[in-house]
Amino acid sequence: MNKRDFLRTVGGASVGLMFGPELLAQYADTPAAILAEDEPFWAAVRTKFKLAPEYINLENGYYCFQPEEVLEQFIGHVRRVNLMGSRYMRTVKDEDKLRVRTRLAALAGCSPGELIITRNTTESLDTVISGFNWDAGDEAVMANQDYGAMIDQFRLQARRYGMVNRFIDIPMDPRSDDEVVRVYANALTSKTRLLMIPHMVNITGHVLPVRAICDMAHARGVQVMVDGAHAFAHLDFRLPDLHCDYYGASLHKWLSVPLGAGILYVKTERIAGLWPVYGDGSPDGNINKLNHTGTHPVHTDLGIENAIAFHEAIGAARKEARLRYLQRYWSDKVRGTPKIVMNTPADITRSCGIANVGIAGVKPGDLMKILFEQHKIWTVAIDGVGVHGVRVTPQVYTTPAELDAFVKALKTIAA
Ligand SMILES: Cc1ncc(COP(=O)(O)O)c(C=O)c1O
Repeated sequence: MNKRDFLRTVGGASVGLMFGPELLAQYADTPAAILAEDEPFWAAVRTKFKLAPEYINLENGYYCFQPEEVLEQFIGHVRRVNLMGSRYMRTVKDEDKLRVRTRLAALAGCSPGELIITRNTTESLDTVISGFNWDAGDEAVMANQDYGAMIDQFRLQARRYGMVNRFIDIPMDPRSDDEVVRVYANALTSKTRLLMIPHMVNITGHVLPVRAICDMAHARGVQVMVDGAHAFAHLDFRLPDLHCDYYGASLHKWLSVPLGAGILYVKTERIAGLWPVYGDGSPDGNINKLNHTGTHPVHTDLGIENAIAFHEAIGAARKEARLRYLQRYWSDKVRGTPKIVMNTPADITRSCGIANVGIAGVKPGDLMKILFEQHKIWTVAIDGVGVHGVRVTPQVYTTPAELDAFVKALKTIAA
């Protein structure tokens, strides 16, 4: 099928034909960088989502809603678990969950024995923070730009055990990895036990040199916990390659899993040292001890497999390349425009789909309001810790035409 035939297909055929094995086979040999700009391919991907017609959604950072087929499969899981009642829980659940966990571990590139399914990043990282055996005077290092829930959990440990939290500021537009590594290195002391770093800063989209930071911290005897809320299934990477000790992510973000699923990765040798939040009969060295969920909405966890299938049909590297292309498509058009301030590194390797932009003299809350009320563009305002603007998060269904509308709106407001 050539491009013109394909476009005709998008107009008339069933969704299955548009983004199915035939289309994927047609594009099988197309490199990610070329495919990133192939609008017919992404137009086919777009048909898989049901979109709100009354506004342009550029706020997929909170969570990425499911493509229709994943949603339907999820509803099927809800029906099956409901139909079978306790028989499902007693005879099928364990096998199903182990299969899903094994599939997730394969996606993450780690062993299933190092990964559990949680409800979200908050639960994953808070399990680690509260699982440490803190002594008075022990120190943890984190950034002012980290997510508030984890900072709150560290503060709770400080109140309870007298441990001490130290904060750094992540440079907005670093010239090198070393500049970022040095900021963290300067905050470590002989008392530091845990360093928390974001894989991708949620308010700016800044991607940190995680491996270099982990290697630096390990050389100083400090363990590293990575907040991967926005990076998992957004960037194409394998967890062990990061060299971190702990990694938490939300699957309802970039994997488009039904709401309420996350992962916690704990490197094998770190498992025994963590206290679980809830008592569990599992041995100390078994990661299951951190996963005492009780009766829970297992249908959500079952949806993970379907979301992985959708993610892998596109391909992790292709998705990353497209998301980065979309971000640069709009941000390159506004960078350098009078009054428009980019709050995301200029270096293309230090960001992907997420970016943040402000307008001098316009409060972020007002900018978000004007964009929505006057231009029908949905974003979210960020106003603090050195970042003043709106966070802009396209998804694989976003079109360049939508981003053109956003650029036009920004320039109009700035003028
Ligand atoms: C960097 C970061 N960490 C953690 C979280 C918490 O995610 P969740 O609410 O899914 O636990 C978020 C949410 O946006 C985030 O941006």
